[in-house]
Amino acid sequence: MAYLEWQPAFEVGHDRIDSDHQALVAAMNQLHEAAQRGQGQDQDRNQDQDQDQEETARILTFLRDYAVTHFATEEALMLRHKYPAASEHFAAHAELLLQVSDFIVDYRAGRVVGVDVMLGFLQAWLMNHIQGRDRDLGAYLRGRV
Ligand SMILES: [Fe+2]
Repeated sequence: MAYLEWQPAFEVGHDRIDSDHQALVAAMNQLHEAAQRGQGQDQDRNQDQDQDQEETARILTFLRDYAVTHFATEEALMLRHKYPAASEHFAAHAELLLQVSDFIVDYRAGRVVGVDVMLGFLQAWLMNHIQGRDRDLGAYLRGRV
């Protein structure tokens, strides 16, 4: 079973934003799977474990890069449609990207950052953001067309 199941309730009513969000959820599920595989290994470091950690770092980087592109899409929509709450929304995006970049740097440096902690943080942030700021943005955009 997926770590996080996409639900219609997550939709904000804007096709591009909704499909990006589904891709973010899919990447989080991949991250969870890679982390599960990593935890299933023996305690001894071995090649498989190294590969799983590399995979985890790769997915985290993908997630960060995808979020950068997705946030830029939302931000362009906000600017184009003169969204009144744009500055707070931009700030929330910037803060999340900083946090994810810190996770990646720490993880790659071998500092102990539990993937479950990262996932818990990302999941809580994403669900809260999608069902809060992004829902408000979707409603505003729908009112503009
Ligand atoms: Fe957003």
